[in-house]
Amino acid sequence: MDYKKIIANMTLEEKALELSQVAAADIIQDADAVVTGISHSGVPREQLGEIGSVLNFSGIEAAKKIRSAPFVKKDNPLLLMQDVVHGYKTVYPLNIAIGGTFDLELAEACAEMSAIEAKANGVNVTFAPMVDLVRDARWGRVNESTGEDPYLNGLMGRASVRGYHKGGIACCVKHFAAYGAAESGRDYNTTDISDHALKEYYLKSYLECLKENPEMVMTSFNLLNGIPMNGHTELLVDLLRGQEKFDGVVISDYGGISEMIAHGYAEDLKECARIAANNEIDIDMCSLAYAKYLPELVREGKVSEEKVNRMVERVLRLKDKLGLYENASAGISEERDKTYCLSREAREIARRAAEDGSVLLENNGILPLKKDANVCLIGPYAESRELMGEWACLGKTENVVSVKKGIEKLTGKSVPSVAACSAQWNAADESGLAEALRVAEKSEIIIVCMGEYCKESGESHSRSNIELAALQVKLLHKLKETGKKIVLVLFAGRPLALTEVVPLVDAVLFCWHPGIEGGNAVANLLYGTVNPNGKITMSFPRSVGQCPVYYNCFSTGRPKHNDTYENACFTSRYIDELNAPLYPFGYGLSYTKFELKDMRLSVSTMRRGESVTVSATLKNIGNRAGREVVQLYIRDKFGSCARPVKELKGFCKIALAAGEQTQVRFKISEETLAYFTASGEYKAETGDFEVMLGTNSRDVLKTDLRLLDREL
Ligand code: NOJ
Repeated sequence: MDYKKIIANMTLEEKALELSQVAAADIIQDADAVVTGISHSGVPREQLGEIGSVLNFSGIEAAKKIRSAPFVKKDNPLLLMQDVVHGYKTVYPLNIAIGGTFDLELAEACAEMSAIEAKANGVNVTFAPMVDLVRDARWGRVNESTGEDPYLNGLMGRASVRGYHKGGIACCVKHFAAYGAAESGRDYNTTDISDHALKEYYLKSYLECLKENPEMVMTSFNLLNGIPMNGHTELLVDLLRGQEKFDGVVISDYGGISEMIAHGYAEDLKECARIAANNEIDIDMCSLAYAKYLPELVREGKVSEEKVNRMVERVLRLKDKLGLYENASAGISEERDKTYCLSREAREIARRAAEDGSVLLENNGILPLKKDANVCLIGPYAESRELMGEWACLGKTENVVSVKKGIEKLTGKSVPSVAACSAQWNAADESGLAEALRVAEKSEIIIVCMGEYCKESGESHSRSNIELAALQVKLLHKLKETGKKIVLVLFAGRPLALTEVVPLVDAVLFCWHPGIEGGNAVANLLYGTVNPNGKITMSFPRSVGQCPVYYNCFSTGRPKHNDTYENACFTSRYIDELNAPLYPFGYGLSYTKFELKDMRLSVSTMRRGESVTVSATLKNIGNRAGREVVQLYIRDKFGSCARPVKELKGFCKIALAAGEQTQVRFKISEETLAYFTASGEYKAETGDFEVMLGTNSRDVLKTDLRLLDREL
């Protein structure tokens, strides 16, 4: 296609509209046909035909309506974009759960199946993967990410990009950059990050994803070191376009360009358009700043037409890559929708992901349950089908398997259940508690299904208190008084502070929001059809006051070596709380027991250019088959910049039969030890390292490694 020729024939107004995105509601003005988005209606109807892209519509009918709207130009096909974040009609568990599977193939499969479904329904581009580094459980959006480790996030993000591509849609890495560092965990809040921390921790996962050639990158809402990301020349132009040579489409987040006014960075919408365009943000998502002011800005010489042409060309190239010029509706297919959406295969992947992403946090031996155990189900998630969490896309609750359904199917008998109360944080209606206690009295084991209400995490849903809601805690205390055994099954979109409730129960299974197959997955895990193998990828704080708490932190100059409540004055500590989280990154139990032993390095001194192998024996010393995630961490003991106490550098998931053992091996090269040193250079520094292997980030085997310069 001769893009230059097409662009040469476009007016400035047409170019500005090509670079503008509106909500589906602007085009079809049909409330039923849109998923989210309010009609901005800022674009006069006669200009809508020139608009380049549309977001968030509700499937085939809406896609067809958009494509066939009388004013939509047939020679300028629209790009249809959507937040397909963890599934389309088949909703998979939240990404934070997918991260906890430590299974890149599974993550890729979830993305691929989502893409196949979305494509059949007319989606060209998904706004995913979200790979923000997240350390603060108060932030509502931690569940969209795969957690607090940049290395894992990068690999998981790459797996998703591969999956979306296999499934036939384009994708968008977001939110560039450092959105996850929102101060005090409050959404959209300011971030202030040193250059070193930015390069070393926050940027890594976005840049890692670029290796899979995602078509788009989305800018974030936050200020970064005083500059709103939509105006951040250093990161958008110098780094992303310059250093990284990203020549795909950069899109703003929803209304983000106009938000530079509220940030106190631009005086008016015209100024916003000027700043964003000069930073080569190709698509203005729903600010209409470009639509209204870009032509004028070019005429006034404030934005060069050459730049605008370049931006338009990127959008046209994307349309071309997706085959939209040959047939704008190419992907749309009722037949494929019927074949793939909610297919057996998709459900199977969703169930596996929910099983492998759920984490057994506690178990005193009560789990797995016997099929004939006398159980009841109590709590707001006992019968609920609201198991999909945020960004459920086109998922419908009627397609969700509840815990009650899952358990009844597996055990073949009916299970008494009482919701007892709502899961909402401020629930106050106690009228259901008495009935719950009556039912609980009649059973031997109470399976309590509780957690955070599904709409209380996600965008704009930050929390200052991340404990279980007070009424649920009260219910648990009352259930405890019955003297019965209690299995707590938790659902949430963030790590919760569980210090008060853990002592009340015999086991805790943490399922995040597990998606449409949640009930089947929970049943399989509780009854041992599947052995729990998921790990948490965010540390679980003991109390909200510890936030942000993350494993890959630094040692202070006054470390508290013995993390007890005893007086440790003048060390870095809280007087009323331990430093360690309740559950560390990488933690998760199994119904069998694994032993990791005989750790050794092939050599303990390595010269530049060489590599060493670290190995250990993993043995299943329990009496049932299981899977374990062996994690490799390193610590650079002394550097030109202080290094974190631990950093994940490798992992592998291993299945072992009872009694079986195997050797795990990881290669450590200079690259494994490299970081952005004080001079800004990315390299390994000679000296001493600690190499650690563990099945979580806390309990590790250690050995020393020394890196030396090459021999002369
Ligand atoms: C705002 C969110 O921050 C972003 O993640 C999402 O893709 C857009 N809205 C579009 O819905």
